[in-house]
Amino acid sequence: MSMNKEKDFGTPASHSTTNVTLEIDGFKVTVPAGTSVMRAAASIGIEIPKLCATDSIEPFGSCRLCVVQIEGGRGRRLRIARHGRGGGFA
Ligand code: FES
Repeated sequence: MSMNKEKDFGTPASHSTTNVTLEIDGFKVTVPAGTSVMRAAASIGIEIPKLCATDSIEPFGSCRLCVVQIEGGRGRRLRIARHGRGGGFA
């Protein structure tokens, strides 16, 4: 019996040809537009806790474990429940 040891980035990859640069915990990362904060963070080794998120299905936000704070936003925001610029997706 073998176990799948591939890294799970939490949300599917974006196939946009436009890139955006984010700063997460002081680290800059450039990703395709539409990439989730969770996926962008995971790509530079920052793991956001998750239960229901996986890169094999579209995010649906049921467990509410993946909370992040967006600078300039009000309070904490769900990473995968938010779409659009400045939210959970780049
Ligand atoms: S991991 Fe479940 S809502 Fe984000």
